[in-house]
Amino acid sequence: MVYLTRRETFNAAHRLYNEHWSEEKNKEFFGKCANKNWHGHNYTLFVTVKGNPHPDTGFIMDVKKLSKITKEVIVNRLDHTNLNLDVDFIPKGLHPTTENMVKIIWEQLAPHITECELHCIKLWETENIYCEYYGE
Ligand code: NI
Repeated sequence: MVYLTRRETFNAAHRLYNEHWSEEKNKEFFGKCANKNWHGHNYTLFVTVKGNPHPDTGFIMDVKKLSKITKEVIVNRLDHTNLNLDVDFIPKGLHPTTENMVKIIWEQLAPHITECELHCIKLWETENIYCEYYGE
């Protein structure tokens, strides 16, 4: 089995807060991430597919096609948005954390990967924080 990864980038704003909590409790738990006037991240998204290289091409899938699908289905719909407000496939009220974003990205992207299997969605929120999701 061979694993092939395509990297894409986007930036977006969000705010982490629980509307059922007081301002103080939100500040205490989420810190600067609860800032009411939002903050932004430069996200790096890694999409990994798995399969065996096809004898005719040596490819698991055409990585240009993987990039095109990822841009159309994910990046173009998230880039320069407010993740709390603007994105139709992020349920209202769901915390737009990196943890939740990898699951949402997987759900959106998986049906479009047809010639091999989606293996992992990895999302870097910062250089020091990232999440991975393997579909379960
Ligand atoms: Ni943040």
